[in-house]
Amino acid sequence: MRLAVYPGTFDPITRGHTDIVSRSLSIFDRLIVAVAPNPRKGALLSIEERVELAKIATKDFANVEVESFNGLLVEYVRQRGAHAIIRGLRAVSDFEHEFQMALLNRKLDERLETVFLMPSEEYSYLTSSIVKELALFGGELEAFLIPEVAKRLREKYGHETR
Ligand code: PNS
Repeated sequence: MRLAVYPGTFDPITRGHTDIVSRSLSIFDRLIVAVAPNPRKGALLSIEERVELAKIATKDFANVEVESFNGLLVEYVRQRGAHAIIRGLRAVSDFEHEFQMALLNRKLDERLETVFLMPSEEYSYLTSSIVKELALFGGELEAFLIPEVAKRLREKYGHETR
């Protein structure tokens, strides 16, 4: 059974993320969506909310677990006995940071591979940050987020009208 870990801040999980989950499952038998607290990023949603929403967003996929982790990703991946880290790569602008992280993680554990997957082009510009900005100003969210996540974001910004 090939197990991969898909780590991220997931603040919140978007349709771009679930597209990557789906693609990962065509390569790996099992996937753990691993939600990092990432306090430096100043998340809108609590870690518990991010895990809860990621569980809802991935409930229709077999062989996907969602959990949070603390500390170094490589240690978590090792502890879970996973074979690879999955990262979504949207555009050239993602590349430099992802390249640094992948090489750093490999330096920390040389057996660990990072697998980059490209989302469907309709999500290639999508980030959790731009979705939050859209939510802040009351924009339509359903093209980017599943309804439960869209609702939670509207509530956060006081735009819950339906
Ligand atoms: O969704 P993001 O914010 O791009 O995810 C970044 C994440 C959580 C994968 C990265 O910050 C991470 O791996 N954090 C755990 C701490 C760690 O291992 N840092 C060293 C690698 S940069």
